[in-house]
Amino acid sequence: MKSLIYISEACQPFSYHELMELADKASAENTNHLITGFLCFKNNTFIQYLEGESIELGDLFTKISQDTRHKIINMIYVDDDGPRRFPKWHMRYVDSATEFNHSIEPFIFNLMKLMKVASVDGKEWHDMIWRGIELLARGGEKAKV
Ligand SMILES: Cc1cc2nc3c(=O)[nH]c(=O)nc-3n(C[C@H](O)[C@H](O)[C@H](O)COP(=O)(O)O)c2cc1C
Repeated sequence: MKSLIYISEACQPFSYHELMELADKASAENTNHLITGFLCFKNNTFIQYLEGESIELGDLFTKISQDTRHKIINMIYVDDDGPRRFPKWHMRYVDSATEFNHSIEPFIFNLMKLMKVASVDGKEWHDMIWRGIELLARGGEKAKV
């Protein structure tokens, strides 16, 4: 299993309806390609974590990075061969509307902050980001989602 996380800036306004449409389509596609992860949008910024097999993940990221609705600012790829962190989330859209999301929101904000400053090859930054993802994965598990 390979994983990646990226942060991007929206190049157009996104209504709640458009975000839901994007997340629903992504979820359906990702289910077909056994991709799991989450997507969050806040302050004109997307953060998305994706995990899956190498070819599927690479193909998907190529599409996402060519999507003109946003511009990637930073991406970190990890070849960790461990089990999936979010086996039940085919593309969970995270917002602050539910109690569950409220409990994991601080983790997401922290990840966003780290991703904005992390240099592409800074190992310490990467370790911090990966610890954040592990915490988020455990938070999601606790909330039985
Ligand atoms: C922020 C963002 C996240 C996206 N995440 C996914 C995703 O997880 N899975 C997916 O299939 N498409 C996702 N998309 C849409 C793809 O960029 C692309 O539009 C979609 O795969 C359809 O491509 P195609 O019509 O060329 O097959 C995302 C787009 C954006 C802007």
